[in-house]
Amino acid sequence: MRPQINPSILSADFARLAEEADAVAGADWLHVDVMDNHFVPNLTLGVPVVESLRKATGTPLDCHLMIEQPDRWAPQYVEAGAGSVTFHAEAAAAPVRLAREIRAKGARAAMALKPATPVEPYEDLLPELDMILVMTVEPGFGGQSFLDIMLPKIRRTRELIAKHGLDLWLQVDGGVSERTIERCAEAGADVFVAGSAVYGADDPAEAVRKLRNQAGS
Ligand code: DX5
Ligand code: ZN
Repeated sequence: MRPQINPSILSADFARLAEEADAVAGADWLHVDVMDNHFVPNLTLGVPVVESLRKATGTPLDCHLMIEQPDRWAPQYVEAGAGSVTFHAEAAAAPVRLAREIRAKGARAAMALKPATPVEPYEDLLPELDMILVMTVEPGFGGQSFLDIMLPKIRRTRELIAKHGLDLWLQVDGGVSERTIERCAEAGADVFVAGSAVYGADDPAEAVRKLRNQAGS
């Protein structure tokens, strides 16, 4: 698969979300960070904003739910128009049931792992998912430094995907930039979330193109 770059609107101007989405119209997906101030110590946006954003852009939405009780909320994000919904393994009460529900409602189902959460206990669940997200920072804030110590976990996750012959995307999120994306790609990631590296650039569209080229090289 061609490397995918998903700009995170967490680093965009929240008062101008439609224009900020337009600024990266060449991106594969828009990454939408939903935080509830319980699962992570930060608060962002919810279902109504996703609904509005869906109408404002043609780019599909990749909703990353950093919230408690994703079993209760995730289906509403599919109904709001998300093309992909990611819940956290640490928060989900019934991850298999939830992944099946997300898929049944017509979106891609993904599960995220915080840095201290190993992938191995979830090996048997992987066929239920369309994507697995290996966090490369502690979730909660944009602009943090990439955690190099996550590279072996990315590698092990890629090995598990290969072992089971799955068509599963491997996303990385946190501190992904021109300085770190090649290492992530080399370790086996194929979907890259980038917030500050895209929206902090003078030309966000050009930053997306550069990151994609670097990831593919
Ligand atoms: C962090 C969020 C990320 C964040 C990434 O909790 O999940 O998506 O926006 O921002 P950067 O790319 O600046 O680390
Ligand atoms: Zn995210």
